[in-house]
Amino acid sequence: MLSIENIEVTYHHTVQALRGLSLEVPEGKIVTLLGTNGAGKSTTLKAASNLLAMENGHVGEGRISFRGESVFGITPDKLVQRGLFHVREGRRIFSEMTVEDNLIAAAYALDGRGVKPDYDKVYAFFPRLKERKSQIAGYLSGGEQQMLAFGRAMVAQPSMILMDEPSLGLAPKIVEEIFATIRRLNAEDGVSILLVEQNAGVAFSVADYGYIMESGQIVMEGPVDKLRDDKDIRSFYLGVATEGTARESFRDIKHYKRRKRWLS
Ligand SMILES: Nc1ncnc2c1ncn2[C@@H]1O[C@H](COP(=O)(O)OP(=O)(O)O)[C@@H](O)[C@H]1O
Ligand SMILES: [Mg+2]
Repeated sequence: MLSIENIEVTYHHTVQALRGLSLEVPEGKIVTLLGTNGAGKSTTLKAASNLLAMENGHVGEGRISFRGESVFGITPDKLVQRGLFHVREGRRIFSEMTVEDNLIAAAYALDGRGVKPDYDKVYAFFPRLKERKSQIAGYLSGGEQQMLAFGRAMVAQPSMILMDEPSLGLAPKIVEEIFATIRRLNAEDGVSILLVEQNAGVAFSVADYGYIMESGQIVMEGPVDKLRDDKDIRSFYLGVATEGTARESFRDIKHYKRRKRWLS
């Protein structure tokens, strides 16, 4: 459904953010992309939804296709109309507009598709948004703003959603509610999801397959059941103490182990 092949991305023609990155999101699946701050997760999503140009970012090499068609040359709003919706980092909503108007504004995505927006469905998934539909979005709590950002994606009736760190800064209970909705939208409507997270625990609770990235590259991938049992992932991403010492990076663990093997 979404296929990213070997892309190189630079910002301002100087900062290299992605180095030969490839990943695949099959239709109807939830795939997670994990990595720490600055790894290149948001850049990957922005490359897929063609938003890099806005930040003077540039895909130098590689290919990205959505439903078999190259995304390059398709404007971001046209991609939304074709079913690819990007819920950006930091809950971008119209903070001066009401909750309801925020949802209505997302309906442009349905132009020319002959479908009507279904706001009631959003309210059924997120009853809190219904209670607050006449309130100004900027005054909502962080969790409610994330729900609204997600609700705007639902209005657009996408076949695929790119989600950038939906759990960031939210209380566990709210995270649970949002992730239950991700799961439900995938199960009921077959929406494919590429979920960017730093919180591996919650990401693994919904995803089928995962990629781990560091410094612009994928360093590991596999079905979530396998990743969850991996010792290095357990110690670095799931905070399970397996060796006792905190390490700077996931790769350091690997290097450390390799070194240890040579020494022993
Ligand atoms: N607009 C930008 N201009 C220049 N460099 C950027 C820009 N956005 C991101 N970068 C750089 O690209 C790298 C990857 O960033 P990003 O994709 O935001 O990582 P993540 O989402 O994993 O935290 C970082 O080194 C970051 O500093
Ligand atoms: Mg990011």
